[in-house]
Amino acid sequence: MTNHHIKDILKKDYLEKEDILCLLETEGLDKTELFKHAAKIKRKYSGNEVYLRGLIEYSNICKKDCYYCGIRCSNKEFNRYEVSTDEIEKAIDFALENQFGSMVLQSGELQSNIFTEKILNVIRKIKSKSDGKMRITLSCGEQTPEVYQKWFDAGAERYLLRIEASNSDLYKLLHPNNELHSYDARVAALKSLREIGYQTGTGVMIGLPFQTINDLADDIVFMRGLDIDMCGMGPYIEHESTPLYERSEGLIPIEYRYQLALKMIAVLRVVMKDVNIASTTALQAIDSSGKKSGLEVGANVIMPNITPIKYKADYHLYKDKPGGGLSIENELEYAIKTIENSGNKVAFGSYGDAVHYLKR
Ligand code: 5AD
Repeated sequence: MTNHHIKDILKKDYLEKEDILCLLETEGLDKTELFKHAAKIKRKYSGNEVYLRGLIEYSNICKKDCYYCGIRCSNKEFNRYEVSTDEIEKAIDFALENQFGSMVLQSGELQSNIFTEKILNVIRKIKSKSDGKMRITLSCGEQTPEVYQKWFDAGAERYLLRIEASNSDLYKLLHPNNELHSYDARVAALKSLREIGYQTGTGVMIGLPFQTINDLADDIVFMRGLDIDMCGMGPYIEHESTPLYERSEGLIPIEYRYQLALKMIAVLRVVMKDVNIASTTALQAIDSSGKKSGLEVGANVIMPNITPIKYKADYHLYKDKPGGGLSIENELEYAIKTIENSGNKVAFGSYGDAVHYLKR
């Protein structure tokens, strides 16, 4: 029998932290109830549509040295690349031909005038080629407010910067202790993005070493506090050539991390009804129907990876990252199938702005 308590929580207009914790701890029928409820809310706010974003992993050159991430600068085991201008043009053409309403430009983090200019050029190229018919999301890490402003003025409308872990002590365990990896700078960057006027997104990793369920509840409260428009989050997956791999003994089992990630999506949907939530690749790394499941519990965005195939293996964030062998055509086909199999339809040609943003 379903716990009445869970039904009562789901009926509330405002969830306290304790309510959020309760939802994250659901199992069995209670969990099913949570998932069903989240799916219903998703349907109410974005109908049965799922938005497509064409994801370009622009470069894996990164100045940061995050303990969990495969493309950290200390990892010398693979090639560093940057997608060429020609290849970017082809990706934009592909996205336009296939009625993508939006593109995401994700990159390793560099702070330099050259990098700023390169991203500016890509933004301009997308804007001119698409004749304004395409929204741009950047995910290029921490930058100064001036750089964020430049990119915004050039036409980028959205920015995704994961907080990774909203508990500053946990954040410190996951990153080197230096200026380049400051928790406060990360939060300040998020606030600056919001002030400039971006549709702002963040997210966390789920099932990290040292992370508790209480931290995850706080992550949801953090996202609500920032009044974010978008979220991308997924399970933590170890990578052999990172320092955090040494801490794998304390990890919760991978299947449990996966379930916890689905619960986080569902709970965020219950708490922030009209934000855009992506069904992420890390879910798919654990379960071959991971992205579909994400859509079934409240996510409403899918990002087919349209990076030229020759680079894909080198954007190696964690082990078993899926899709390395898929061409961009296969990626799209797969995304469409996933969306349809989840009982939704593809929102071809739609910008897919978060309702949350349109309302504020
Ligand atoms: N497991 C899961 N997600 C990871 N990321 C980086 N490394 C890992 C990992 N080992 C995520 C981070 C980052 C995004 C690009 O990839 O959250 O923001």
